[in-house]
Amino acid sequence: MLLDTHKTEIETLLARYASKRSAVLPLLFIAQDSYGHLTDEAIREVADILELPPTDVFEVVGFYTLFYNRPVGTWMVQVCDDVPCCYLGAEETIAKLRQTLGIREEQTTPDGSFTLQRVKCLAACNRAPVVQANLSYIYDVTAERVEALVRDLRAQASGSEAASVSGRQAEDFEWTADSRLSRIERDMGAMPTRDAQTAPEAEKAAEQAEESAPVAPAIAAAEQKIAAESPVVGSPDGTNASARPNPAVQGEFGTVPAHAAQKPVPVEKSADEIKPTPEETRAAQNQNLTGESSQQAIREAPEGDKLTR
Ligand code: FES
Repeated sequence: MLLDTHKTEIETLLARYASKRSAVLPLLFIAQDSYGHLTDEAIREVADILELPPTDVFEVVGFYTLFYNRPVGTWMVQVCDDVPCCYLGAEETIAKLRQTLGIREEQTTPDGSFTLQRVKCLAACNRAPVVQANLSYIYDVTAERVEALVRDLRAQASGSEAASVSGRQAEDFEWTADSRLSRIERDMGAMPTRDAQTAPEAEKAAEQAEESAPVAPAIAAAEQKIAAESPVVGSPDGTNASARPNPAVQGEFGTVPAHAAQKPVPVEKSADEIKPTPEETRAAQNQNLTGESSQQAIREAPEGDKLTR
């Protein structure tokens, strides 16, 4: 049982998340490494630990291609056959692997050492063709290097060095001058330590601090610039410029420039307000009856624009 063999690791993982269900992926990886693949019993065991309906966990396993619900080899060998790798010999590499291992894609060698798969771009096109073995990257794999690759992986497995099938200890490798795999050393820096018991509280406190953090200075400066370049504008909350805070007051978005805060916004009249009064209507009708306005317009028009009758 996982809780017998990986108790501390599982408890540490569960303490890392505010909700138990968030640990479903790392727990499935532990189960996959422990049992070789995810049997129905292993999936139900993970569901029990996380207090989830088993169906939820079965769905996760079915969704991700790196979860194996069937037996796979000690080494899951995945060859990228996307365009850059193909240009540089991926098909020849796959053909050589098939010949060397005596299997086709999606098959496992009779001794259970290797399963062969094609995959799409592994995001290392600058070192194409690329092969993953239990998620360890092996760069520049040509057909000529396949036998050396298989020999090296067999040696690692027999020496108990096989990386976990889930890739939890994955590394990346390149070739030495004498065609051996050499682990690429990378300085990842110190890993942050985490207090297993207080982690969820610390995460929540960090989230709250982020939510209540003041507006970033860059945003405040941008708001000021917009206000300065747009003297007559509506404020973000829909009030017009005259309703904006006193320029002497430091508002939510910083100090509002005086001209932006004080310049009045023209107020549009409603349809009722612009309707003519009865007196205006009568005067307009009289003008139309006498034709006075049109005759005055003809008198005042430039000479060239006058109508001839
Ligand atoms: S195409 Fe193979 S790694 Fe990108």
